[in-house]
Amino acid sequence: MEFEKLVQKLAKQNKQRIVLPESFEPRTLDAADIIIRDNIADIILIGNPDDVRAAAKKRNLSHVVSKATIIDPLNHPKIDEYIALIVSLRKSKGVFENTARELLKNPLYLAATIIKAGDADGEVAGAENATGDVLRPGFQLIKTSPGISLVSSVFVIILKDKEFGDDGIMLFADCAVNPNPTEDELAEIAVTTARTAQNLLAITPRIAMLSFSTHGSAKHKMIDKVATATKTVQDNYPDLLIDGEMQLDAAIIPEVCAKKAPNARIKGNANVLIFPSLEAGNIAYKLVQRFAHADAYGPIIQGLAAPINDLSRGCSVNDIVNVVAMTAIQAHKGKKETMKNASNI
Ligand code: ACO
Repeated sequence: MEFEKLVQKLAKQNKQRIVLPESFEPRTLDAADIIIRDNIADIILIGNPDDVRAAAKKRNLSHVVSKATIIDPLNHPKIDEYIALIVSLRKSKGVFENTARELLKNPLYLAATIIKAGDADGEVAGAENATGDVLRPGFQLIKTSPGISLVSSVFVIILKDKEFGDDGIMLFADCAVNPNPTEDELAEIAVTTARTAQNLLAITPRIAMLSFSTHGSAKHKMIDKVATATKTVQDNYPDLLIDGEMQLDAAIIPEVCAKKAPNARIKGNANVLIFPSLEAGNIAYKLVQRFAHADAYGPIIQGLAAPINDLSRGCSVNDIVNVVAMTAIQAHKGKKETMKNASNI
């Protein structure tokens, strides 16, 4: 099934409440209408309700007008509860009542607080805000999932050439958040991406830790970082199929792998590529997108206790619909995992 149809179908199976804090942004409003119409998620918008409805009416968005939940940041019955929540989370950083009240006037902070309070399941923004501004409230208030200390990101790449990955599907990480991960952070990015492969796409990960050397063919401290990260994951997660350090050709071409790394655990058939730095990852996904005409869905933010996803400022209405669907799947899977962990205690 086509990827977009698949994620929308999965999102519909367990409808989640997704906040779209950029609630006057035209593409966001158009996407909200489609999402509500197609039953993909319940939508929460932020702004003066009369003004949001007027903006939607002007665009003939009847589903937004009649069915979106609209939260008024200046007149919300739970505002004192939300202020107390922020203070409890951030007082060690010098945030008290007045600052919390000010923060909540920013829809991006209000959205993260609503999620932390359990009144929504996920958020999508970034059509008009920069990546850091979208993610920072999540880092500060929602924080990481249990067992994870680093938030990172992944792109789902759909290649035209179906011989790579799983029928053309590959995951690339980290292409959007951590500029220069340490060896421990790189190990964590690999583990978190493996979890995303399983939870979001039901794919069994085969992970290649990429560098400019294959199994010691060159020497450099940048290579050591990738080799050490690989060993950390192999030692701690013996069931994960992961190998490195390796060059891209050994990771994705079986004949090259057989020559360069005959003993590798993955046999030139990786479906998850972990890049050594943000420069490498960000450049790589854009190369594949432009030269190979691959579809690139993301960045999907992984590792937060509840999902917040960032849009490109050049995004289309269709992009927003799909990112909301993926956010809803992440939210549902995350809740299931939390419940499973709680029942194991
Ligand atoms: N995981 C978990 N927590 C984090 C992370 C992380 N990766 N990064 C920062 N934090 C936490 C910090 O510990 C801190 O918490 P605290 O306030 O409780 O102590 C809080 O978040 C804020 O930390 P800062 O260091 O001030 O974070 P900053 O806001 O400067 O940086 C950001 C975060 C903006 C995401 C930064 O990592 C960044 O700029 N990354 C690159 C983003 C980018 O430009 N990507 C390319 C474009 S996207 C694209 O092309 C698709």
